[in-house]
Amino acid sequence: MKIAVASDHGGYQLKEEIKKYLEERDIQVLDLGTDSEESVDYPQFGHACGEAVASGEADRGIVCCGTGIGISIAANKVKGVRCALCTDVTMAELTRKHNDANVLAMGGRTTGVLTALEIVKTWLDTEFEGGRHQRRVDMLNRY
Ligand code: RB5
Repeated sequence: MKIAVASDHGGYQLKEEIKKYLEERDIQVLDLGTDSEESVDYPQFGHACGEAVASGEADRGIVCCGTGIGISIAANKVKGVRCALCTDVTMAELTRKHNDANVLAMGGRTTGVLTALEIVKTWLDTEFEGGRHQRRVDMLNRY
């Protein structure tokens, strides 16, 4: 599996921690930046990650900004992207089971590293349930 990661300055430290975790799990990482805590614009990075997932360059994506909100909005502008902002493990589990979320968003200023890594683990290890959820995901994909 290849995962595209992207952040702005507010999510940079968290992105770096997530990269380490993914690499420890032997998951291939496509780092789309940013590469420091210097101020940048989250729409550019969220959109780039969405494009990488929608084009198939990456299987899934993880985006981080200060709150996770702005960068999740940017990623969701790309057709085919289902980006979910998660603040706990239950959200990560349910967004995989019900929404087949292909991009995960988190906030570097709002979610601690240990919680964030638990969220990533759950999001990676939980399968989409399909069934009644498939029809709704198909609807999302048509918009
Ligand atoms: C940047 O200061 C901040 O606005 C951004 O990281 C994010 O929180 C936006 O949603």
